[in-house]
Amino acid sequence: MYNGRGCRRACVKGAPPMTCRYHFVMEYYSTLGPACRDCPNNRTACFERQCVTADGIERGIMTINRKMPGPSIQVCQGDMVVVDFENRIPGAATAIHWHGILQRGSAFSDGVPQLTQCPIPEGTTFRYAYEADEIGTYFWHSHDGLQKMDGLTGSIIVRSLKDPSFQHYDWDLPSHVIVLQDWLHQYTAERLPGPRRFRRGQRPDALLINGRGRFINPVTNSSNGIPLSEFRVFPGFRYRFRLIHAGCLVCPLVFTVQKHYLTAIATDGSPNKPVVVDSLVILPGERYDVVINANRPVGIYWISLRAVGECENLNIYQEALLIYEGASYNSLLASPSPGPAGLPEGVVLNPLAGACKPGQPGVCVNQLQAEGPLLAVDPVLTSQDVIRMTMTFDFHTFDYDSLFKNPHFYKFYVPAPSDIQVAGRMNNISLILPPAPPLSQPDVLENLCASGSEKCCQNPQTEGIIPGHRECINIISVPTGSIVEILYLDNMNTNGGLTHPIHMHGLMFYVLEIGSSDDRLMGKHLLSYDYRNNPNPNKKDTIAVPSFGYAKIRFKATNPGYWLIHCHILFHLDSGMGAILKIGEQSEFPAVPKGFPRCGDYKPGY
Ligand code: C2O
Ligand code: CU
Repeated sequence: MYNGRGCRRACVKGAPPMTCRYHFVMEYYSTLGPACRDCPNNRTACFERQCVTADGIERGIMTINRKMPGPSIQVCQGDMVVVDFENRIPGAATAIHWHGILQRGSAFSDGVPQLTQCPIPEGTTFRYAYEADEIGTYFWHSHDGLQKMDGLTGSIIVRSLKDPSFQHYDWDLPSHVIVLQDWLHQYTAERLPGPRRFRRGQRPDALLINGRGRFINPVTNSSNGIPLSEFRVFPGFRYRFRLIHAGCLVCPLVFTVQKHYLTAIATDGSPNKPVVVDSLVILPGERYDVVINANRPVGIYWISLRAVGECENLNIYQEALLIYEGASYNSLLASPSPGPAGLPEGVVLNPLAGACKPGQPGVCVNQLQAEGPLLAVDPVLTSQDVIRMTMTFDFHTFDYDSLFKNPHFYKFYVPAPSDIQVAGRMNNISLILPPAPPLSQPDVLENLCASGSEKCCQNPQTEGIIPGHRECINIISVPTGSIVEILYLDNMNTNGGLTHPIHMHGLMFYVLEIGSSDDRLMGKHLLSYDYRNNPNPNKKDTIAVPSFGYAKIRFKATNPGYWLIHCHILFHLDSGMGAILKIGEQSEFPAVPKGFPRCGDYKPGY
């Protein structure tokens, strides 16, 4: 095993980059399995190597190297990351995505099965290789099916001495990475399409902080005694914490630390001018870096994580501890856990429903400013030569006959709490992926479309088609170097409930505007964007679009390849809420290495 040995180091000026090698072994595994011995009765046993406690409820999971979250990749800017990914799960194929890593020149390492590579079959090893070219907080996760939710996720941290936020903190420790997960007490596939009677829907049973948490029995109100995650600080220093929402379901999470402000200094890897808040809302796929100043009396303070939005009032929460060196556990007993009510939210970063107008206690991500001096306004923001497009997202609700008296077997799932069958879609199309990755097997799309397949969006066939609903390979093409403005429109009025985090592979984008459903009803999304409102906006790769509201983003399409744009809620993506952005032409795509695995349909002429 060679898991990044020597790479987790202090990044020094002028030092040569390293090649950081990792061996990821994917297995079926169990929480509270034999490696945990007599945890939780014996507390230290809960910290044994290869012991995964989760929230103390036994279930089958999937792991990399018997850890959850999996191994953390922590490197310096410019390092090469090489991951030998070995699939040892019987009966499952997979691919791993490195969320937020741009993969410039290595689009075939992006890890989207059927788009950038063939899924990695059982018993084989696939070598990912890419440069950690941008600083920041990222994470990896399975991009195949529902595996991410069963445990296949972990952090990626890229550091550099040239970090423009340097002066805002004293310490940036590997132990202060916080991976947030939402969690079920069974395999996620049990919820797809979803049971109608027992354990309906896809709401999480629990939340985890760095793979740990306590399950409180809702009937007896007693805790199962699994140790919480602990974060240690010395009094008098400022610490950089890196928050990652590696979860999959519909719950936005509110993060708060008792009696401490959060100074937000980066989101999705991009450094921003510091913003001091009391709490922040984070959605699946997003990351926020915050500085916590250990300037309070020595003690133990609660860290509270609470599910809100669609999950408000379901008492889904989790806790962790901020422990000052020298504090005794007795001081903890003096302050009761905040419990499901959480801590006061005060000023919120990234509030739901775009609540950041004057008079509202919120800071929206489009109000963040990039860290560092503004030398000139980026021409991406001022240009008039822009490709504008609208991308709507919503759900198609099936009627009985079209779903069950139809030989096409459309994708669907049964969401909570209703008894309807839906499929996610973007621009009225439920996305499916090609039978082979077009990045490495470019003829797959031409052949498919030439054969008249209805999987080809250019070839609408009538047979079996449901009025107003299509499942096909939705590709949006833009030329390399063009400036693109996307208006994301949430077209589903769920009464302010559901917030979709839309993620884009291969690019960072400026967030120009975020609008609530009220703004949209007033038609504000139709007005053209004025860069003077914030000439120095920050970049992101995942944006929470207010429920029934909108967001406007802009980017320069510099990275040729096939890149997925999708909602980061797993059931929305898997049922079709996504599209493929094709930047440039095949001739501009990075050539795949020799021997790159091939796959596809097999239809000999009988
Ligand atoms: Cu983290 Cu396509 O996603
Ligand atoms: Cu969604």
